[in-house]
Amino acid sequence: MGAASWASYRASIGDRSSLFGAVRDAWHPTSALYPGSYLDLSPSTAIPAVTYVDTDRRAARYFADTALVEAELRGRGDAGAAAEVVFLALDYTAPLPLAEAHFDMLVSLYAGPVWEHCRQYLAPGGRLLANASHGDASLAALDPSLRLVAAVHHRDGRYHLDTADLDRYLVPKKRADAVAERIRRAGRGIAYTKSAFAYVFEASGSHAT
Ligand SMILES: C[S@@+](CC[C@H](N)C(=O)[O-])C[C@H]1O[C@@H](n2cnc3c(N)ncnc32)[C@H](O)[C@@H]1O
Repeated sequence: MGAASWASYRASIGDRSSLFGAVRDAWHPTSALYPGSYLDLSPSTAIPAVTYVDTDRRAARYFADTALVEAELRGRGDAGAAAEVVFLALDYTAPLPLAEAHFDMLVSLYAGPVWEHCRQYLAPGGRLLANASHGDASLAALDPSLRLVAAVHHRDGRYHLDTADLDRYLVPKKRADAVAERIRRAGRGIAYTKSAFAYVFEASGSHAT
């Protein structure tokens, strides 16, 4: 059996290339930071410079094989989108050797409290893509420095963005659950009256922590 790669990971979680294609079409990010990426290479099908961060050894081994990474991207998504694939085998909860306010996009999918630990690397006006599984979208929804700009839906293997009537989203089923400290402690998101796979938020110009 071959080593774990994006292809083998795609076989279990599906291909998120259409998600990043939709993000590219909407906002044209040129750089993204993806803490807790594991083997999910899909952002590189649409975003020119992506920095992946993970402590898992299988991810480090995969990204070290640049020929395999290149081969797996060939023929997928934008020609030239994957101009820069960087992998950091580091814990994202500790300071990363990255410039502050550098990235157009921060990705937080099933990987813990990425927003709170990595917000400083997102440029003012940049976007956070987060889902609610580990509570990140729920924390983002309570953060006054973020504004919801799209909900992401996943249907029949494809992703699409909904940007209409966004007030329908992130409405807690139980108002009492929408407390940052409770969400942090639980490490998972809260229930909403209308759910989505993930959400895209736009960061305001300031980085108040
Ligand atoms: C459940 S996987 C999700 C992978 C991918 N984001 C996805 O959506 O398919 C979570 C990943 O986050 C990584 N991770 C969790 N905490 C981390 C941390 N503090 N620093 C770096 N990586 C972390 C794990 O090693 C694992 O590979």
